[in-house]
Amino acid sequence: MHTHLILVLFLYCCIGFSVTFSERAQAQAASDDELSTLLAMKSSLVDSRNHLKDWQIPSNATQSAASSIIHCNWTGVFCNSRGLVEGLDLSNMNLSGRVSDGIQFLSSLSYFNISCNSFATSLPKSLSNLTSMKTFDVSQNFFTGSFPSGLGRAAELRSINASSNDFSGLLPEDIGNATMLESLDFRGSYFVSPIPKSFTNLQKLKFLGLSGNNFKGEIPDYLGELSSLETLIMGYNEFKGEIPAEFGNLTNLQYLDLAVGTLSGQIPPELGKLKNLTTVYLYRNNFTGKIPPQLGSIMSLAFLDLSDNQISGEIPEELTNLEKLQLLNLMSNKVTGLVPNKLGELKNLQVLELWKNSLEGPLPVNLGKNSPLQWLDVSSNSLSGEIPPGLCTTGNLTKLILFNNSFSGPIPTGLPNCLSLVRVRVQNNLISGTIPVGFGNLPALQRLELAKNNLTGQIPIDITLSSSLSFIDVSWNHLQSSLPSEILSIPTLQTFIASHNSFRGNFPDEFQDCPSLSVLDLSNTELSGKIPESIASCQRLVNLNLRNNQLTGGIPKSITNMPTLSVLDLSNNSLTGEIPENFGISPALETLNLSYNKLEGPVPSNGILMSINPNDLVGNPGLCGSSILPPCSQNFTVTTHQKPGKHTKHIIIGFLTGISVIISIAAAYLAGRFIYNRTYLYNNFIHDWFKSSNEDWPWRLVAFQRVSFTSTEILTCIKESNVIGMGATGIVYKAEIHNRPHMTVAVKKLWRSGSDIENGYSDVVREVELLGKLRHRNIVRLLGIWIYPEGGRED
Ligand SMILES: *[C@@H]1O[C@H](CO)[C@@H](O)[C@H](O)[C@H]1NC(C)=O
Ligand SMILES: *[C@@H]1O[C@H](CO)[C@@H](O)[C@H](O)[C@H]1NC(C)=O
Ligand SMILES: *[C@@H]1O[C@H](CO)[C@@H](O)[C@H](O)[C@H]1NC(C)=O
Ligand SMILES: *[C@@H]1O[C@H](CO)[C@@H](O)[C@H](O)[C@H]1NC(C)=O
Ligand SMILES: *[C@@H]1O[C@H](CO)[C@@H](O)[C@H](O)[C@H]1NC(C)=O
Ligand SMILES: *[C@@H]1O[C@H](CO)[C@@H](O)[C@H](O)[C@H]1NC(C)=O
Ligand SMILES: *[C@@H]1O[C@H](CO)[C@@H](O)[C@H](O)[C@H]1NC(C)=O
Ligand SMILES: *[C@@H]1O[C@H](CO)[C@@H](O)[C@H](O)[C@H]1NC(C)=O
Ligand SMILES: *[C@@H]1O[C@H](CO)[C@@H](O)[C@H](O)[C@H]1NC(C)=O
Ligand SMILES: *[C@@H]1O[C@H](CO)[C@@H](O)[C@H](O)[C@H]1NC(C)=O
Ligand SMILES: *[C@@H]1O[C@H](CO)[C@@H](O)[C@H](O)[C@H]1NC(C)=O
Ligand SMILES: *[C@@H]1O[C@H](CO)[C@@H](O)[C@H](O)[C@H]1NC(C)=O
Repeated sequence: MHTHLILVLFLYCCIGFSVTFSERAQAQAASDDELSTLLAMKSSLVDSRNHLKDWQIPSNATQSAASSIIHCNWTGVFCNSRGLVEGLDLSNMNLSGRVSDGIQFLSSLSYFNISCNSFATSLPKSLSNLTSMKTFDVSQNFFTGSFPSGLGRAAELRSINASSNDFSGLLPEDIGNATMLESLDFRGSYFVSPIPKSFTNLQKLKFLGLSGNNFKGEIPDYLGELSSLETLIMGYNEFKGEIPAEFGNLTNLQYLDLAVGTLSGQIPPELGKLKNLTTVYLYRNNFTGKIPPQLGSIMSLAFLDLSDNQISGEIPEELTNLEKLQLLNLMSNKVTGLVPNKLGELKNLQVLELWKNSLEGPLPVNLGKNSPLQWLDVSSNSLSGEIPPGLCTTGNLTKLILFNNSFSGPIPTGLPNCLSLVRVRVQNNLISGTIPVGFGNLPALQRLELAKNNLTGQIPIDITLSSSLSFIDVSWNHLQSSLPSEILSIPTLQTFIASHNSFRGNFPDEFQDCPSLSVLDLSNTELSGKIPESIASCQRLVNLNLRNNQLTGGIPKSITNMPTLSVLDLSNNSLTGEIPENFGISPALETLNLSYNKLEGPVPSNGILMSINPNDLVGNPGLCGSSILPPCSQNFTVTTHQKPGKHTKHIIIGFLTGISVIISIAAAYLAGRFIYNRTYLYNNFIHDWFKSSNEDWPWRLVAFQRVSFTSTEILTCIKESNVIGMGATGIVYKAEIHNRPHMTVAVKKLWRSGSDIENGYSDVVREVELLGKLRHRNIVRLLGIWIYPEGGRED
């Protein structure tokens, strides 16, 4: 290889010397040098996929003039009319190795693109000699070390993209000399403060991306001098203090993203001067004070997200002037007062998220009538009044999330005809009337949560025809008449909770097909009759709660074979007979409550029954034996002989079976290669926190929809080394799933437990998208899996 290269160089030197000394020949000599430069560059690259196989001299090459520009049609090489290399596009080739110092001899190089490769070395200092450079793109690699200084010498430099790498240190000051620059992208590395003051010379700069680095301190006010700036992205850093009022001088600014950081203070009213702004993302900081009414004069504003701050005061009426507004997110703040009625007149509003504030009064009566509303989440406020009737007027509504408020009146008649609906979550309100017919026909509806309202009547039979519902919760209402048992056969149904109603009637006597059902809660529903043996055909059942009914008959023996059943509560019924012999060794059983029935006979001394809490057997005067109850008379023979110690094993098996595993995360699905090139958090806080949480708390995993991997596979990835980000609600981990198809999943472990799954879900979606945009390629789609804690940490 080496010898070959030397020979080639020698050959070309000879050619170089043998030509006549004209201008043309000079150019040709330069061109020849460039060929050898390229070959030298190739030799320092690792080209595992052999993309550069044509970078070689054909064996039949002649000494004709043509041969000296042979390299001009090599892959990725572009020459100018004089045969000099002016462009090198080696992007997307999985190259690694080094960019050779020799690159500086490509003196006409003006376009250099090696983005989307696997370089993990540092860039050569000699880049500073490439003074013809105009476009420089080394993004999406793993380049380390400092970003070389000197590129600022290239007077015509228009664009630098170094995003998504592992660069560290300071940004080079001399870049401020390249006054033609229009785009500077340094997102997603480890650069530290300060941002060079020399950047203020860049009066043509339109794009500045600095997000996802280690910048600290105050945001320099001199950035307000970048008068041409159209896009400024600086979030995911540790800037503190206020947004400089000088940003109000950035009159061409269209996109301002300072999301996720530690900024504080008031949002400067000066932003209202920026008449070209379309997007303002300030979410997840520590901003306080009121929303400046001046924002209402930015007529171009389409996306306004101030969520996850400490913003107080009312929603300014002025915001209803923003006719182009598509997204208004103010959730997780301290906003009070009414939702301005005129928000319902906005023609473009698609997303309105106001959850977790202290808003009161009704929603705008015309909400959804005038705009293609897609996503409405106003949960966890003190809102009241009727649900606006026209939310789905345009047929775009996918998510209707109103839980934890005081909405009253009936479910609007339009909703069950809203074909776009995916989630309806209106639990914990004062909604009355009956459940209208039609939800069963909505082709996309996955979650129907009507719990804790004042609903009467019956569950409409059409719901049993659904082919999409995976989660139904109608508990804590005043529903009556019998339960349509076919409901459990909805092919997609995973969770059915109907407790605390007055169904009366018999327990469904035939379970045929409940292919996905994992949680069935019919407690406190006045059901009677027997539990059929066929219940065991629900092979995926994890949690079965039938407490507080009038069930009679025996415990079906088949239950002991249910492979994933982990929580079983049959307490407060009138069950008779003995506890089936093998009960304790049911493969996944972890929690069992049989108290207050009419069971009798010996408690089998095996598995979980050996260590069961006496309270879970109490109230069955006929039971005897085991270590905790009176000994049995001769009449009963003790039948099983399991050794103690097995139980631990069963718990572990139960743990491994997956669904009973206890967790608090949300997952989002990323396909393709997952580039993971920085974390915020190899720090001790996370380490310690994670360690303690991992040991102290049980975790529970619940999937909304079928997934092709198990929680075990996810669990093994919930470790510090897989951390890819941290947000206000939890930590995001990377998880590789190795069964087919191989995929990478982002998993979020929530810090808080509780009811606001939806909120966390949208967080995750957003976070993963953001992290993804910054640091990862090929984000394909999110998967509807959600894993939440039972009694985790509340913060
Ligand atoms: C060199 O050989 C290749 C095939 O081996 C042929 O396609 C090409 O035309 C040849 N070039 C010259 C200059 O003879
Ligand atoms: C390079 O150009 C020559 C003629 O200029 C042509 O014969 C040859 O096929 C080209 N090679 C490639 C890889 O395009
Ligand atoms: C560099 O190449 C990548 C991948 O082919 C492309 O997406 C990107 O636009 C290129 N960069 C420039 C500045 O042309
Ligand atoms: C990319 O390059 C690395 C290092 O050279 C190699 O290990 C890997 O297999 C390559 N991947 C593909 C898909 O070619
Ligand atoms: C740039 O080129 C000059 C002249 O050829 C050379 O002396 C210098 O070392 C080069 N700079 C770098 C950083 O390689
Ligand atoms: C380039 O920038 C450096 C550092 O900012 C400065 O010292 C130098 O004078 C500048 N050179 C030119 C040619 O402007
Ligand atoms: C920039 O903004 C600040 C504060 O808003 C102001 O005092 C200053 O005069 C402005 N500078 C220019 C050049 O407009
Ligand atoms: C900014 O808005 C003004 C009008 O308010 C318009 O003339 C100008 O073209 C806009 N600039 C950009 C970059 O959109
Ligand atoms: C956020 O602001 C509040 C009150 O201004 C302060 O108590 C808190 O420490 C701040 N939090 C952070 C993370 O800066
Ligand atoms: C709203 O729904 C209609 C009909 O389905 C569709 O044509 C339109 O693109 C949707 N609008 C938005 C903003 O999604
Ligand atoms: C529930 O509805 C009944 C009648 O349907 C009504 O009498 C009662 O006041 C309602 N309760 C609440 C809390 O709204
Ligand atoms: C044994 O069972 C019989 C009938 O089931 C009952 O009459 C008798 O009292 C029981 N004996 C003891 C010792 O409990």
